[in-house]
Amino acid sequence: MPHPIPTPVAPPPDILRCAYMELVVTDLAASRNFYVDVLGLVVTEEDNDAVYLRSIEEFIHHNLVLRQGPVAAVAAFSYRVRSPEELDRAVAFYTELGCEARRAPEGFTRGIGDSVRVIDPLGFPYEFFYDVQHVERLAWRYDLHTPGALVRLDHFNQVTPDVPRAVKFMEDLGFRVTEDIQDAEGTTYAAWLRRKPTVHDTAMTGGDGPRMHHVAFATHEKHNIIAICDKLGALRLSDRIERGPGRHGVSNAFYLYLRDPDGHRVEIYTQDYWTGDPDNPVVTWDVHDNQRRDWWGNPVVPSWYTEASPVLDLDGNPQPVVARTDTSEMAVTIGADGFSYTRPEDASRAQDDADVLPSWKQGEYKLGHQL
Ligand SMILES: [Fe+2]
Repeated sequence: MPHPIPTPVAPPPDILRCAYMELVVTDLAASRNFYVDVLGLVVTEEDNDAVYLRSIEEFIHHNLVLRQGPVAAVAAFSYRVRSPEELDRAVAFYTELGCEARRAPEGFTRGIGDSVRVIDPLGFPYEFFYDVQHVERLAWRYDLHTPGALVRLDHFNQVTPDVPRAVKFMEDLGFRVTEDIQDAEGTTYAAWLRRKPTVHDTAMTGGDGPRMHHVAFATHEKHNIIAICDKLGALRLSDRIERGPGRHGVSNAFYLYLRDPDGHRVEIYTQDYWTGDPDNPVVTWDVHDNQRRDWWGNPVVPSWYTEASPVLDLDGNPQPVVARTDTSEMAVTIGADGFSYTRPEDASRAQDDADVLPSWKQGEYKLGHQL
């Protein structure tokens, strides 16, 4: 691994969970319509410049901030820590790594108190806080629930060029790997990392980065995701659906990927599994396994691999993007250089036979053949 990030002597902050994302949007009214009127997130508070939204089961002030700005981007991936003292640890941990850390005793957003924002060694704007305003948890307010109710923030997904380098840093920050995608040559294409006992709080997806791949909200059950699809169809907004619905191989969750009015990607996700035991087994998927990203073998559209949102520095400027140099998952699975198999016994001949999938199936994976 070139240029590994050194392990700080200072201990990492004790992170509880991913808590909220701050998104910069270019048309606040259009974004509010998408997240509130279409997806049903709850408005905790709003003004002319920002809307603070939460999911049905949340008791902290917000899980998503929409802030009007000139460039669609991500201003913060925010995590809640276990106690106020953990903020001192965060400052020491990142300062030792030479990262810029800013502390705001009154918070960077409404509803949240003492907070630390940093640009981490991977180039992402991370935030840590403990102090937060409590609001009503609407879990029992079934009179307010919609058929596609979003009940929790589940995870973030980050695009970064060197996945093993990112994973090593995140392990130093106290995260554990639950699943990953590799090939026989040892290239890692993506990894899923958790603090809370689910499959992940964030994932590292190999690609040009730092960029934000998606933010994910959970529904209670699969049928809630189908209801969101039906609603989008009824509103003639089916073009907001990028991929799915389907069943993931990785994480075993049911999923749907949407694009918001600025192109920010939002995943709706439900029913992954408990990972809280200390000896939770890591699941490694072969990049050529056609069921890793969709358990039913449905195609991953090329835009899902290539498009992602810029991230901002602490002054609000877009972070420069570094190209991935390891092979890309799209290149090795789609197109002239790629192959995929459904049954493991087919993998041995797949290297010599790009048509290991039936021709009618394989065509779906070729660039330019999406219908
Ligand atoms: Fe996800």
